[in-house]
Formats: sequence, structure tokens, C-alpha cells
Amino acid sequence: MERIDKIISVAENISRKEAGELIKCGAVSVNGSRVKSVKEKFNENNDLFCVNGKKVTYNKYVYIMMNKPKGVISASEGKNDRTVVDILPDDMKRKNLFPAGRLDKDTTGFMLITDDGDFAHKILSPKNHIPKTYIAELDKPFDDNLVKAFEKGVELKDDLCMPAKIETADGDRTKALVTIKQGMYHQIKRMFKKFGITVLELKRIKMGNLPLDLSLKEGECRYLSADELNEIKGTK
Ligand code: URA
Repeated sequence: MERIDKIISVAENISRKEAGELIKCGAVSVNGSRVKSVKEKFNENNDLFCVNGKKVTYNKYVYIMMNKPKGVISASEGKNDRTVVDILPDDMKRKNLFPAGRLDKDTTGFMLITDDGDFAHKILSPKNHIPKTYIAELDKPFDDNLVKAFEKGVELKDDLCMPAKIETADGDRTKALVTIKQGMYHQIKRMFKKFGITVLELKRIKMGNLPLDLSLKEGECRYLSADELNEIKGTK
């Protein structure tokens, strides 16, 4: 059972406050009866919800794209650090949200936050080969040997990385577009370090075929549509 203002805010992709206003002005009905209080609770999976007479669907899971800022960690709970879940706007917070994948504390860009464990597993498993693209600012230019080595697969300690693609952004070899299919600890920084190059700034700009929404400022986020989820999985 969930509170009606929460159900309507999730179903309509609006804030709890806006949902409350719809309820107060009598626009919301459940199973044909008008709802009078924002505090009433309903079965989000079985009841029929309408706003202004139009059926709306409560999504079992949510998928949020965040442009992660520096200084927050990609975890659900942090001892001393704020997490990507902590900085979600209040009306987007709900139980069991977690970041699907890891970005370092100083990495910015596309962070997917969801409560759908199966989906997260699918897009993160190296078996599924979902590419993730980053823009890396380097302390010195990369050369063709590095491109070949990345294509072959860089060996890090005991792990052999899967082949990675590297291109220049704007023809500048200190700005690299790197695409990897895994999410090993500090993977991109360590791959460059192997060739004596330090990554100064790192930003994830794409997951699967879905680019980061450039209208999101750092720290901002929005829900993803079903089509966009398929873009991540590469099935669209
Ligand atoms: N590789 C890194 O080194 N850091 C990240 O945050 C992501 C990929």
C-alpha cells in the first residue's frame, strides 16, 4: 500500500506537492471514486488510478538519469560522504534506490539510479557488452600505440580488460573519448596510468546508445522513458 500523493507523483512524473494539489482539487479518482485526502493509501499494483478521468499507470520501478557532480559517492548510503541517492530531489526519493554502476567520487556525468535490480544486473554484466563512453582529460596526449593497446585489451594486475575504443574529442589528443564494456575499479584511470598518462578529469557521457541529457546541469536528474531504457540496452 502506498500513499495516493506518492502514487500520483510517480505515475505522472510530477512532484508530491503537485500531486497533492491535484488530489485537493478533486482531479484524482481511484476505482471510480474521488480521493479526498493525500494521506489515503491504495494498492499501487491493483487499484485503478485516474487523473481528470484519464487512466494513469503507476510504475513498479523508476529509472533516473543523473548528471553526477564531483564530491558525491555512487552508493546508496555513505558514512562520511553524501551519496547520489542523498542528493535526489525529495519528490524523486523512494525506497530501495541505488546507483546502477560505479563512478569515482571525482568523476562526473551519467549515473543511472534505479530500484530495479534485474535491469541493473543486465546493463552492468560484462557478459552483455553494454558500452559506456567517457570523456577523459589527460595530462599529456595519447599516441597510436595506446590506441592499439586499448583495442587489444590492457592488462591490469591480474585482470585483462576487454577491448576498449579510444578516439579524440575535437582532434585534441589530450581529450579522449573512451568506450569500455566493464566497470572495474578505477578502470579508465588505471588503463591510462599504465602508459604514464594521468586522467585529470573524467565524465561519463553515454550508456549503451543513450547519451547524457546535456540539459541536465551537474546534480540534476530526470526520469527515463521506456524508449530510453531500450537505448541503454541497445535494443532500440
Ligand atoms: N573509470 C574510472 O577510472 N573511474 C570512473 O569513475 C569510471 C571509470
